[in-house]
Amino acid sequence: MSLFNVYPLNPIAITKASGSRVWDDKGQEYLDMYGGHAVISIGHTHPHWVKRIEDQLHQIAFYSNSVIMPIQEELAKSINEISGKKDFQLFLCNSGAEANENALKLASFHTGRKKIIAFKKAFHGRTSLAVAATDNPSIVAPVNETDNIIFLPLNDIAALEACFESNGKDIAAVIVEGIQGVAGIHEASNEFLQAIRKNCDQFGALYIADSVQCGYGRSGKFYAHDFAGVNADIYSMAKGMGNGFPIGAILIAPHIQAKFGMLGTTFGGNPLACAAALGVIEVMEKDNLIQNAKVQGDYLINALKNIQGVKTVRGKGLMIGFEMEEGLEELRKVLLNDLKIFTGEAKPNVIRLLPSLAITKEDIDVFLKGLKEAIALLQK
Ligand SMILES: Cc1ncc(COP(=O)(O)O)c(C=O)c1O
Repeated sequence: MSLFNVYPLNPIAITKASGSRVWDDKGQEYLDMYGGHAVISIGHTHPHWVKRIEDQLHQIAFYSNSVIMPIQEELAKSINEISGKKDFQLFLCNSGAEANENALKLASFHTGRKKIIAFKKAFHGRTSLAVAATDNPSIVAPVNETDNIIFLPLNDIAALEACFESNGKDIAAVIVEGIQGVAGIHEASNEFLQAIRKNCDQFGALYIADSVQCGYGRSGKFYAHDFAGVNADIYSMAKGMGNGFPIGAILIAPHIQAKFGMLGTTFGGNPLACAAALGVIEVMEKDNLIQNAKVQGDYLINALKNIQGVKTVRGKGLMIGFEMEEGLEELRKVLLNDLKIFTGEAKPNVIRLLPSLAITKEDIDVFLKGLKEAIALLQK
């Protein structure tokens, strides 16, 4: 049976990984500045994370959400502490789309309303409502189309206020990425996030902080939204949460009440996924990785700004996008094929860097040297 051909693949089979390095089936080593699409938070195959999962496998891998699972409570406590969102509640699921789907659904249950404000170029996932709130018609199937989503320009406070003035009593939620990822690294400004908070309070809507890509320490704070100094009502997260073990979640403000059956999942919150997520937080805390994301991110961003051929640099911490000058469109390919460095892309011409939060200055220097060599090769 063939694989359903939906992914344009690099002709490379990665079979081994450690820290910020991966190896192909021929033994060729690569530097991973992409983290498997922002997923690798503490480094590939971190020994503590491996042991946490291994130990859990010998205890119990799965039981359904019909019994008390102490490991879920342990994880909730850890996330409360590391995120600083002390009285929030936790609902566990399996992916970023599922986290956003539950966040949007919960906002609608809570408010009794149907309309959602989302933003131009946003990406929230591929399930029904998450994809409807994603500004990319080519991945929205006819069955996902709905009038319930209102798209506004990012960082346009006047448009936001006008929309609330005319539709305020119908709006269940505003969903926004703290830093838009798939769009090519565009930050929501602090003033804009504060305006979302204010309007949601005034009109009784919920503020959903999509932190699937920009959360979990990647920006140099636990949530990129935290830079604005206001709390959201719901935070969605996934990617870095399990360091590659599938797990997602929403953090839910204390004023939102649960009701039996309101949300649910078979696999979400299984003991194995919780062990992986606990392993991640333990390493993040022990090795101070959120601080490392800030320090290494500042270093990388400043260095990129001084490289000839780099036009603009955007982002925070280790969520970085840079645009190249004309003539360097093949740069990602050269980085991968000639310099053996994985990076991410965003169309039309942005290179995204989403490395492990444990990346070292030495590895960043290897990347910067490779980048200069790749640019020189293209300019020859
Ligand atoms: C901001 C954001 N939200 C949601 C998602 C969807 O996550 P998943 O692919 O785990 O469903 C992504 C994935 O790239 C994302 O970047």
